[in-house]
Amino acid sequence: MRIYKVGYPLCFPPSLKPSHLSSWCINAIPIPLPLPLPLTTHYPLLSSNTESENSLMDPQDVKTNIVLILDFGSQYTHLITRRIRALNVFSLCINGTSSLKSIADLNPLAIILSGGPHSVHAIDAPCFPSGFMEYVESNKLPVLGICYGLQLIVQKTGGEVRVGEKQEYGRMEIEVEKACGLFGNKKVGDRQSVWMSHGDEAVKLPEGFEVVARSKQGSVAAVENREKRLYGLQYHPEVTHSPEGMETLRYFLFDICGVTAGWKMEDVLEEELKIIKETVGPDDHVICGLSGGVDSTVAATLVHKAIGDRLHCAFVDNGLLRFKERARVMETFEKDLHLPVTCIDATEQFLSKLKGVTEPEKKRKIIGNEFICIFDAFAHDLEKKLQRKPLYLVQGTLYPDVIESCPPPGSGRTHSHTIKSHHNVGGLPKDMKLKLIEPLKLLFKDEVRELGRIMGVPVSFLKRHPFPGPGLAVRVPGDVTEGNRLDILRKADDIFIQAIKDAGIYDSIWQAFAVFMPVLTVGVQGDQRTHSYAIALRAVTSHDGMTADWYYFDHKFLADLSTRICNEVQGVNRVLLDITSKPPATIEWE
Ligand code: XMP
Repeated sequence: MRIYKVGYPLCFPPSLKPSHLSSWCINAIPIPLPLPLPLTTHYPLLSSNTESENSLMDPQDVKTNIVLILDFGSQYTHLITRRIRALNVFSLCINGTSSLKSIADLNPLAIILSGGPHSVHAIDAPCFPSGFMEYVESNKLPVLGICYGLQLIVQKTGGEVRVGEKQEYGRMEIEVEKACGLFGNKKVGDRQSVWMSHGDEAVKLPEGFEVVARSKQGSVAAVENREKRLYGLQYHPEVTHSPEGMETLRYFLFDICGVTAGWKMEDVLEEELKIIKETVGPDDHVICGLSGGVDSTVAATLVHKAIGDRLHCAFVDNGLLRFKERARVMETFEKDLHLPVTCIDATEQFLSKLKGVTEPEKKRKIIGNEFICIFDAFAHDLEKKLQRKPLYLVQGTLYPDVIESCPPPGSGRTHSHTIKSHHNVGGLPKDMKLKLIEPLKLLFKDEVRELGRIMGVPVSFLKRHPFPGPGLAVRVPGDVTEGNRLDILRKADDIFIQAIKDAGIYDSIWQAFAVFMPVLTVGVQGDQRTHSYAIALRAVTSHDGMTADWYYFDHKFLADLSTRICNEVQGVNRVLLDITSKPPATIEWE
């Protein structure tokens, strides 16, 4: 099957090609899709690097009031984007080395140069394109350089950056040396705590620049060239360890740049509805695989709002769902969202293929392939029924899935990408041609939740913990079909999750679930010797699932839970707690 990414006019000008901002708006480029769509909330779609000449994007769609972030590879870059959006200003992050044309076409009101792990002296240190400083000067665009961004400005405009005598990492105190727009009403001598993370430092400022704050150690902490509207912070205002950093960003945006706050989710909703209506022809049909997760549900709800019953959704029960999951999810789709969903019971199909399979990767592959077959059959059935082919496929791809950043020099990559290739479990059939609609592509997870809330998706649904595409198969190491492993797991998992909800801690946990241990151990229950299975409990805190820490439960909570699981779930005589962070472990057990 071939997936054609549609030239979906997601508010970008034609010149913003996929090589600048991955996955956006590729028009009719065949892309071998590496995964079964219904599974994926965070499988990033691999984009082709081919540049299309036929983009359907209209420059009219470019959002005004954009604050553009040029990414030089800092781990905090995406945080800057989020902080600015939290101030109701639309911000976008693109590769710091993007061409001048692609920057100018976005028509930004202000530009922020991110931090990065490089030294400006490194051979392949990333830099903004040539002509950038002239462009910002001639357009009187305010620029804020953060950490590496400050050093780039200094180095490229005639100053000097050197390896600092005393490197500064972690919490530092800085002192205002000159009243400056970045610090609002703060006076000379006022101090604040900030988060530093740099080895190099600016030792000679270019003409027209002044130091406006210094660290306790005497290094440059903030600079300005008021006339040219160039600003720099050696520290990271975007992290919570810089408690007044958000204020500084606010002063920069509203006082210095004169940006107006007006970006809100209601506008995003209106805009996306308009775009979908314009993209999908009046007789075109669209299909969507619903996983029961937040992203695909919000994406489908949005498309349904735009085109009504020309959207056809499929929810697949693969026999690997949680306790009463199918009924719960279908009820939400039907009663709360009025989404037209076909529930496909494929339990037998999946479980018979998984019988006797113990190797984790093989399990994933089998599950992926079955999804593909089912989805393909769904599309063919629809075609017969409608007498026309569905043309589009809705995907719940999020911004973090497509965002690009600069990899460290020497890595051999031109862009680093948050791709979880190990979740990649297959591909769609080669003869299927669908154009993609990805209406959440500009949004972060919390923004998607907000969008869902506005559209009436129940908050309890929006706050659900993530659930992996391969379902309980990755929570039963070994053969999932042996005995009644899946049933045991479902019951134990349900008790665990319910207890977490009752204790009021569900929302503080990124993900919690039970894992079936395929090990028989000896126990004693009611004076009887037992030889039963163990259940492991896994609960983690995380921001994005990429790293995670185990959740610290109250001991009494754990003791009660262990008793309940052993008493209520037949076949279990032992409960374990997984106290491993990620890394070294992953969140799921397989
Ligand atoms: P790991 O186990 O890699 O998981 O630490 C990180 C996050 O991803 C989820 N996960 C998946 N989600 N398909 C998905 O849609 C998958 O194959 C898959 N594997 C893991 C996992 O639940 C956690 O939130």
